[in-house]
Amino acid sequence: MSRKTNIENPFLYGKVVTGKYFVNREKERQEIAREIEQHTNIILYSPRRYGKTSLVLQTFIDLSLKHKDFSALIVDFYTITSKEKFLLRLADEYGKNAGLTLEKLIRHFKTFLTGIVPIITVDAMGNPRVEIQMTPGQMPLIFEQIVNLPQKLAETGKLVAVFFDEFQETHHFNGQNFQKELRAIIQHHSHVSYIFSGSKHHLFETMFENPENPLYRIGKRMELGKIPLENYLPFLTQNLKKVHPQFTEKQGEEIYAQANGIPYYVQMLAHEVFNLAVLKPRAKPEELIHQAVNDILDNKSEEFGFIFEHLNRSERLTLEMLIKKDGQGLFKKDNQYILAPSTIKKALTNLQQKGIIERRGNRYHFQDIFFERWLRQHL
Ligand SMILES: Nc1ncnc2c1ncn2[C@@H]1O[C@H](COP(=O)(O)OP(=O)(O)OP(=O)(O)O)[C@@H](O)[C@H]1O
Ligand SMILES: [Mg+2]
Repeated sequence: MSRKTNIENPFLYGKVVTGKYFVNREKERQEIAREIEQHTNIILYSPRRYGKTSLVLQTFIDLSLKHKDFSALIVDFYTITSKEKFLLRLADEYGKNAGLTLEKLIRHFKTFLTGIVPIITVDAMGNPRVEIQMTPGQMPLIFEQIVNLPQKLAETGKLVAVFFDEFQETHHFNGQNFQKELRAIIQHHSHVSYIFSGSKHHLFETMFENPENPLYRIGKRMELGKIPLENYLPFLTQNLKKVHPQFTEKQGEEIYAQANGIPYYVQMLAHEVFNLAVLKPRAKPEELIHQAVNDILDNKSEEFGFIFEHLNRSERLTLEMLIKKDGQGLFKKDNQYILAPSTIKKALTNLQQKGIIERRGNRYHFQDIFFERWLRQHL
C-alpha cells in the first residue's frame, strides 16, 4: 500500500461539516454571528443541501471560541414528530447548556414543573434522557415553562442562540397552532436569538412571508446561495494537488461546474475524484473527473431507476418536458406531450412534494444534479 492511500479524504458529504472540512462562508458566518450577538432572530432559507446546517453549527463554533459563555440549543425538527417531543428536546438542550448534572436536572424540573413527574431514562448509548409525563390539561403550562427556558438561560448572563432546523416540519403537528403558541412566548425573549432554518421553499416561505401566519417576519431573512467559485477553488485545488500534482485551478473549476456549484455535489464529486487520484497517479486529471462522474452515475443508477419507476406517466412526461425545455415554459402552446395544463400542474406539485424538483422564480430545478444527468442519458 502506498503512503498516499492513507491520506484522509478532505471532501466530506452527506453529513454536517465543520472545522477543517468546512469551506469559507466567511461573510455569512460573520453576519449570523453578529445577529446572534444582537439577539436578532434569523430566517435562513436555501434549497436543499446548500449547507444551512453546517453553516449554523460552524458559526456556533466560531461564537463559542469568541464568547466563553455562549450557549446553543439545537432542535432538528426532522427527528421530532410531536409537540411533546419538541418540549423534551428543548428541555434536554437547556439541561446540557445550564450545566446541570442529571441529579440537578431532575430537581430543577421538579421544582419548576409543579406537579409533573420527570422520568429519567437511559438511551442505547448510555446517555440520560429526561421524559415528562403530562396530561393534556397540563400541556399549556408545561409548554410555557419549557419554551421560556432559553430566556432564563440568557438572564444568567449567557449569550443564547436557539437553532430550529428544518422548521417547516412543524406543519405535521398542528402547525399554525404550534407556531402561534410559540410566537406568543418567544416574542418576549429579548435576549435570545432564534434561527429558523428550512428548505422546502414554498412551505417555509408561507410560514414567514404570509401576513396571516403567526411567525410572519419574526426575524431577519437570509437566503443562502452557493459558495462562489473563487471561494471554493483554493480548497478544491490545494487538496487535490496534495495527492496528484497535475491538478490545477482549471480542474477545480471543472469539478465546480460539473456539480453546478451546489456544495453537496461539489463535495461528492471532489470526494470521488480525490479517491481516484490516489489510486491512479498516472491518469490525467480530466480523465479522473470524467471517470468520477460516470462512477457516481453508475452507483446511483439503481436508485434513480427505482425513483423513476415509481412515478406515474404524467410525472415522467413532465420530467421529460423539464429536461427538454430547461425547466421553464411548460405551459406554452407548443406542448407536444399532450398533457393538459391541469395535469402538468398536478405533476409539478407532486414532483416538488417528492423532493425531485424545486421551483425558484419561474424556473424548475432538479434537486439532484446527477438524477438530472441520468435522465438526460435515459430519456
Ligand atoms: N461550507 C461547506 N464546506 C464544505 N462542504 C459543505 C459546506 N456547506 C455544505 N457542504 C456540503 O454539503 C452537504 C450538505 O450540507 P448541510 O447538511 O449543511 O446542508 P443543508 O442545507 O442543511 O442540507 P439539507 O437541506 O439536506 O438539510 C455537506 O455534507 C457537505 O458535503
Ligand atoms: Mg440541514
